[in-house]
Parts: sequence; structure tokens; C-alpha cells
Amino acid sequence: MNLKGRHLLTLLDFTSKEIQYLIDLAARLKKEKQEGVPHKHLTGKNVVLLFQKDSTRTRCAFEVGAFDLGMGVTYIGPTGSQMGKKESVKDTARVLGRMYDGIEFRGYLQTDVEMLAAHAGVPVWNGLTDRYHPTQILADFLTIQEQFGHLKDIRFTYLGDARNNMGNSLMIGCAKMGMHFTAAAPEALWPDDDLIKTCRDIAKETGATLTFTTDPMNAAKNADVLYTDVWVSMGEPKDVWLSRIQDLHAYQIDETLMKNASPKAIFMHCLPAFHGLDTELGAQIAHEFGDQYPAVRHGEMEVTDAVIESSQSVVFQEAENRMHTIKAVMLATLEENHV
Ligand code: CP
Ligand code: NVA
Repeated sequence: MNLKGRHLLTLLDFTSKEIQYLIDLAARLKKEKQEGVPHKHLTGKNVVLLFQKDSTRTRCAFEVGAFDLGMGVTYIGPTGSQMGKKESVKDTARVLGRMYDGIEFRGYLQTDVEMLAAHAGVPVWNGLTDRYHPTQILADFLTIQEQFGHLKDIRFTYLGDARNNMGNSLMIGCAKMGMHFTAAAPEALWPDDDLIKTCRDIAKETGATLTFTTDPMNAAKNADVLYTDVWVSMGEPKDVWLSRIQDLHAYQIDETLMKNASPKAIFMHCLPAFHGLDTELGAQIAHEFGDQYPAVRHGEMEVTDAVIESSQSVVFQEAENRMHTIKAVMLATLEENHV
């Protein structure tokens, strides 16, 4: 397996075998880290992390992953660089590609990360755009593999905004890996028809199935994984909150829904999650809409506190796995042959 020089812009560009390779490489790097085995395979290289949006996990995963591999790292946040203001993405790509061995980008437009990739001359990794969040899916799938021992045939149910970056990317990942993907949401929040069609074509090859429903209880029935994400994503205007609560409060993952899943089911979330009053926005939403929508009156939105804190929840293992999988992506795309 040789992924040297490849970009990671969407999992659509990777075969099932390549995705499995990255997950297995991450598992090996995780074990090495736990056992204190040094793996500074990329000493002397440098990467730059471009963030147009905030981040905790993705930024730290890239930074720690790069440090563990022996690399230097530059972080550029939403302010402080010329990109997009005084300098085009294309010019930025050509400048940074001459200084760095790899570029991570988190931003709004998928076309921006594609533009970077087209002109940088070094691997570009998508750390989230409005359309896709591929590195998250690798971490999610490593976590599922750790829990169940395999990915194929896992019954995976996603509840919530299924046409955001997470819904799109999870659907692609499940299709690629022969899993049974169900999305539960109002129809307007299902992935777009073109992407569904692409994934159905992939599913024909892998044995995956794709199901779309408006019925959360049915969707959860016998599932191995219940997964959700925030109802309003970064970059969306604040005034969509009310309509999103109207659309999605019935899809909140609570203990009743969890009980409807398989007895061994796990709860997953890419994080950050709204599950209480201890975030500014959670408290504000509870205050503004709690009387009208009892589901959100304690600042619990896509998931209840009881579920995220339960023994079925693997969200922090999943968050840790961001680092191991991102490290695997950097190692595999910057150097040959690591398994
Ligand atoms: N899941 C995820 O991408 O988290 P951050 O926004 O903290 O990077
Ligand atoms: N859909 C979310 C994912 C955050 C990791 C967002 O884009 O804000």
C-alpha cells in the first residue's frame, strides 16, 4: 500500500482497502504510543495547519500527531494570515507548498481545499469543510473497530442534520466499508440526491445498504451505533436555531431511543456536543426555547446528558482516536510503506 503524495479531501477518493489500511495503521501507532515506542518517522519535515473556523480536537490531533512523528508545526488561525483577504487561496497554496511538506485546511468551501490541493504540490488534508469531514470518519471507524472487532455489516444509525459535513461523510464511509447506514431526519435534511446516488453505486460493490427515514424509533431499532452531531453547524447563521429545533427535537438521542438499539449498542458523536447548561450557547438556547420545546429546556439538544455520560457512550475514546488516525494520515501520505 502506497499513499505517499495523496491528498485527503473526501473519502470518496479512497478505496475500501486504503481506508482499512489507514485505520489499521492508526491502531498500530496508538499501540506504539501507549507502549512508549518512539515513532519519529518524519523528523525534519514541517506541516502547516490553516483554520478558518475554530477547533479543539482537529487542531490538537494534527499538532500532537505531527510532534509525535518528529515534525515541526505552524498553526494559522481565522485571523493573522493573508489568505482570502489580500491573497488568493491559489497563491497561498503555491507559497505554503514551497515551505511545508503538508497542509491541513479547515474552512467553509470544499472548493477551497480542492484549490489548495491543486496548487500546493504537497499533500493537503481536509480538516472539515461545509461538505465533508473525512478525518473524523477515520477516528469514528477506528473506534467502532475497537468496540466490535470489525466494520463490515455494522448497523450504523445517524440521527440529526444528515446533509451536513458529518452526515455526508458518514454515509460515504459506511458505503465504502460495507456497513448498513440509516439516516433519520426530516426529508429536507437528508443528503443531496447526487451524493446518495454515488453512495448507492459504491454500496452495490461493498454490500452496504443505505436507508433514509423520518422515523427515529424505527431507525434506532437493533442498531449497533447511534450517532449524532450538532443541529446547527459552524458557519450557519444563528437564526436557524429555532427552525432546526423544530425540525430535529424529535431526533434527540435519549435513553428511550438508546434502549431501542441493540443491547450492545454504542453512542457516538464527533463533538463538541450540547448536552447541558454548561456552555454559553446551550444555556442561551434553553432560556430562549425551553418553554416551547421541553426537550431542550436543560440545554440538552442532539443528545441528553444521561446518554452521553452513560457506559454506552464512547465519545472520548472517539475524540482520542482523532489523534491516532490523523497521525496515520500524515505518515501514510508523507512517507511510503508503514505496515
Ligand atoms: N470533531 C471535531 O472536529 O472537533 P473540533 O471542532 O474541536 O476540531
Ligand atoms: N457539523 C459540525 C461538525 C463539527 C465537528 C460543524 O460543522 O460544525
